[in-house]
Amino acid sequence: MNKQKWALITGASAGIGAEFAMQLAAKGWSLVLVARRIDKLAELKSTVTKQHQVDCRELVLDLSQVDANQQIFDYCQNNDISVSMLVNNAGYGVPGDFDAVDWSTHQDMLQVMLNSLVELCHLFYPYMKQTKNGHIINVASLAGLTPSTAGHTLYGAVKSFVIKFSHSLHLEAKDHHVHVTALCPGFTYTEFHDVNGTRSMVNKMSKKMWMSAVDVVAQGIEAVEKNQAIYVNGWRNRLIARMCKYLPENLVRFLMKGSVKKYRKR
Ligand SMILES: NC(=O)c1ccc[n+]([C@@H]2O[C@H](COP(=O)([O-])OP(=O)(O)OC[C@H]3O[C@@H](n4cnc5c(N)ncnc54)[C@H](OP(=O)(O)O)[C@@H]3O)[C@@H](O)[C@H]2O)c1
Repeated sequence: MNKQKWALITGASAGIGAEFAMQLAAKGWSLVLVARRIDKLAELKSTVTKQHQVDCRELVLDLSQVDANQQIFDYCQNNDISVSMLVNNAGYGVPGDFDAVDWSTHQDMLQVMLNSLVELCHLFYPYMKQTKNGHIINVASLAGLTPSTAGHTLYGAVKSFVIKFSHSLHLEAKDHHVHVTALCPGFTYTEFHDVNGTRSMVNKMSKKMWMSAVDVVAQGIEAVEKNQAIYVNGWRNRLIARMCKYLPENLVRFLMKGSVKKYRKR
């Protein structure tokens, strides 16, 4: 009999996280879905379970609360759920200059997008290592590979951290048959830019720069199956990442100047 395989997805109520739920369920994964909006999670659970014969649990939690990660882990332990796929996806952008944003907003962002991501890896990785079977996708961003910008001050810094951290864990984990990938999407159609109030600005950008969550997620799953350490979605984004890596930073900054001004809210 096939052993039930469980995937845990944070930020599963919308966008890239919800798409991970749909595509992993289609591949036979049972799901633990984490987010704050109960109605969205319930709707997704109903769709997923109707379309695929998998188990699906919703955990309504705010990851900015420091005990949320332990609650997730305890829930899994108490319900005999052995997670062998972790998708750390929850995230959002905080526009504005650093000092114009109050500290609690910065602190929550760091908790959700940095501390929580690292702690969930720390909680769930040991079992994967022990069983020599596991996949971790940390959703980073192209912004973690491009030069720093004014405005959205912590976003690029947090995503750079996620990429560096994931790469180190990838190197440690590969001898234990655990795959770790930092997934780096560029602009993707989700609720992200509605939530941070930049939709009207980013809508002016060429449609060629945008990808669907469907493609981002399909490529992300393939990347972690192949155990790619860092995966940038889309050839245009890969070209930008290459330019940032190999061209002098001043030149890249000069080339990016126009778009940073146009599309970054300060
Ligand atoms: N869209 C893009 O252009 C883009 C580009 C590069 C990288 N990314 C990254 O992709 C990831 C997913 O973003 P998305 O584009 O799919 O955005 P989205 O559609 O706005 O989804 C964000 C998800 O994160 C959850 N979330 C936010 N704050 C949370 C909290 N405190 N506790 C628990 N869950 C929380 C939201 O759920 P609730 O509101 O229900 O809690 C939602 O499910 C993020 O890490 C983002 O940085 C996005």
